[in-house]
Amino acid sequence: MKSSLMPALVVQQGGLVELPNLYNLDGKKILLVIGDRSFEKWDRFDFFIKKIMSVAGSVSIERVGREPECEDVDSIALNRLYRDIDLVIGIGGGSVIDVAKAVSAMLIEQQEIVNFLEGIGSAVPSGRRLPLIAVPTTSGTGSEATANSVIKGVKDGEAFKRSLRHVNYIPDFVLIDSELLVRAPLAVTINSGLDAISQLVEAFTSTKANPTTDALALKGLSLVGEGFELCITNPESHCAREKMALAAFYSGYALANAGLGIVHGVAGHLGGIFPIPHGAACGILLYPVFREILQELAEPGLVEKFAQIGEAFAGRRIESRQEAVDCFLEYIKKVSGYLTLSRISDYCAVELDFEKISKGFSEKNSPVSLSQDCLSRIIHEIW
Ligand SMILES: [Fe+2]
Repeated sequence: MKSSLMPALVVQQGGLVELPNLYNLDGKKILLVIGDRSFEKWDRFDFFIKKIMSVAGSVSIERVGREPECEDVDSIALNRLYRDIDLVIGIGGGSVIDVAKAVSAMLIEQQEIVNFLEGIGSAVPSGRRLPLIAVPTTSGTGSEATANSVIKGVKDGEAFKRSLRHVNYIPDFVLIDSELLVRAPLAVTINSGLDAISQLVEAFTSTKANPTTDALALKGLSLVGEGFELCITNPESHCAREKMALAAFYSGYALANAGLGIVHGVAGHLGGIFPIPHGAACGILLYPVFREILQELAEPGLVEKFAQIGEAFAGRRIESRQEAVDCFLEYIKKVSGYLTLSRISDYCAVELDFEKISKGFSEKNSPVSLSQDCLSRIIHEIW
């Protein structure tokens, strides 16, 4: 399998207003995809727009205020006004970067995105897209380093959440600017951090893991140990925010190349059925799923991997491998406790069919299979 490439990366506090010095914007017709109004309330927003307008040919702005649906992408990509755009910049959380990524491709394809979604449409993405810059303002999905956009929609009355994917869709350039990251609200910091943690753990223990994804995932897990709780207790810490942003970036590369596991298999399924934030779903599932996986774990190589995660979280060498594995489990139990809404039912107003929920998911690349009974017990436990 072809490994995906890494985007060019710059980590620079205050880097966004310096963007014209970091990436050639001269004369470009830029489409800026941003989130809700919070970015526009940033005290340097006007200065940033003035800076890029001083070199660009034109700057247009589109806003994304929810987890992206097909129509959000189509309304931008099929807009005649944007036919001559030659650079897309996404500044925001995973949803915004997913839309920017999808728009950069669909502005070339000029078709409805649903035709290209995995398992939904029959068209194959050509891989052609406009140049793409990603500037994450949250540390979670790692979308800035992945080859896919996750898009929601409805087909034949059934809600779905599927990917637009091509190895060429990995952004060209990623800017991590802690000036933006420190503005993330607490709930977003917690949800997105738990998403990044789930991605790193699942990619590191995936059946498709390789030495490169292992190296980056383990580095990301160490950065989580150093930075995640500090982002919660000291949200103004630029150093902690940079660490979590890098952890999320590494998680994106790792998951794009090693895949994910049961937490994401179930979280993706739940997110397609009702509006639970992706990071919250991952955070709720993380501890019970891995508690059960560890019960089934027999292969010494895998036990060693969980021990290494325990050491990465603890930030120290732990002689006893069992103690190190326990550290892993204790850490994910502790950090998922930061969720204020910690049950699935907190996000879902209607009674759902448990049978349907515990059946319609993929185990992805989990190193251990969990029985249907076990999954049903977990879903009931966290409901
Ligand atoms: Fe995720």
